[in-house]
Amino acid sequence: MSSIVALRNFFLRVGFRIIRPLIFLMEPEQAHSSLKRVGVFLGNNFFLRKFTGLLFNYDHPSLNTTVNGINYRNPIGLSAGFDKDGELTKIYPHLGFGLAELGSFTGEICPGNPGKRLFRMKKSKSIVVWYGLNNEGSEKISQRLSGEEFGNLRVGINAALTNLTPEFILEDAIADYLKTMKLFKDIGDYYDVNISCPNTQEGEPFVDKQNLNALLTAINKEIRPISEKPIYVKLAADMTIDEINIIVDACVEHKMDGVVCTNLAKPQYNTEHIPEEYPTVDGRLPEGKGAMSGLPLQRISTNVIRHVYRRTRGKLTIIGVGGIFSAKDAYEKITSGASLCHMITAMIFDGPQSMSEINRGLVKLLKADGFNSISEAVGSRNPLPKERTDKLQKPRAA
Ligand SMILES: Cc1cc2nc3c(=O)[nH]c(=O)nc-3n(C[C@H](O)[C@H](O)[C@H](O)COP(=O)(O)O)c2cc1C
Repeated sequence: MSSIVALRNFFLRVGFRIIRPLIFLMEPEQAHSSLKRVGVFLGNNFFLRKFTGLLFNYDHPSLNTTVNGINYRNPIGLSAGFDKDGELTKIYPHLGFGLAELGSFTGEICPGNPGKRLFRMKKSKSIVVWYGLNNEGSEKISQRLSGEEFGNLRVGINAALTNLTPEFILEDAIADYLKTMKLFKDIGDYYDVNISCPNTQEGEPFVDKQNLNALLTAINKEIRPISEKPIYVKLAADMTIDEINIIVDACVEHKMDGVVCTNLAKPQYNTEHIPEEYPTVDGRLPEGKGAMSGLPLQRISTNVIRHVYRRTRGKLTIIGVGGIFSAKDAYEKITSGASLCHMITAMIFDGPQSMSEINRGLVKLLKADGFNSISEAVGSRNPLPKERTDKLQKPRAA
């Protein structure tokens, strides 16, 4: 069976390589909308869903994993930002995803940034994003998704701050997050609080300790009593160790369930891409704007995962995201401490068979290391340092 799937994936990969230049002839945002329309079309028909499953699905018992009480059929998920209005949930399980994070959804309708907002960096295997959280707003989207059955797909609700004004008012910002989280209280399986979008007018105000404490306190007061869903917080890629520590320590202190590592990387802090490819260089994007997905993020996000896992001694669940193109990449994030993975860019550059290739490869990697499940592999190559008591030994009386 496994060799049939391998052969199928080989032909799909070759097929995608042939049609990719045609897809890349389209403007990236136009390609994104067209592919979403195809996904909605396939998802709306029973036979097309089954046919898609024959082409792309893959299951194996060792991929089954339970995280914060939620059972996932496999640990590979779609990351936030591909399905900003939550329109494609019917097709994801047939494409091989175990989970899909929808959004980011914001409290108010958000048109996003003006102008050209998506760019490909082919040599760097990266997408430059300058969307600015465009979405239809949490009221409309939650109404549409209310009562929808997601079957064996687990769904994350990514809540972000509406990007409409350059002015930051803490109380309004908190109310915006809470509005989305309340509207989605009965939809999906977990929340992801996105405090790290690099493309908004206000920057990242919740990297500030006091602001973050206020947000997490409000979430605990207003969301915990109405929803049992695990709550994760999405971290930025470009933080200093001190900034990461402030956020993860606050997450532990406020009993958040975990963190998502990481969001997009800003080019000014990054040496992992080919600078000449960045769209500000030839004026396609204004200076200082946009941030990168894919390969330039791969090592950075894995390093953040490694640090967070050690810092929190595994107390926070980690969802690993950034530059996962192969099973090896996903396994590196898992063995560094991630319990689940997200991805987008691999689908764009390598095709929609990537999820099944990654899942199939994970089964082999687990077996090679003698593990029976994903949870056994989590953090296995990132051993925790011995706990320090920090107690001074009393000097013995002479
Ligand atoms: C087109 C695009 C839009 C994105 N929009 C969002 C978003 O709205 N909210 C969010 O939390 N992350 C967003 N991201 C970041 C992704 O969720 C993810 O963290 C990042 O792309 C790294 O994963 P990848 O290398 O597999 O693409 C976006 C990424 C892309 C490529």
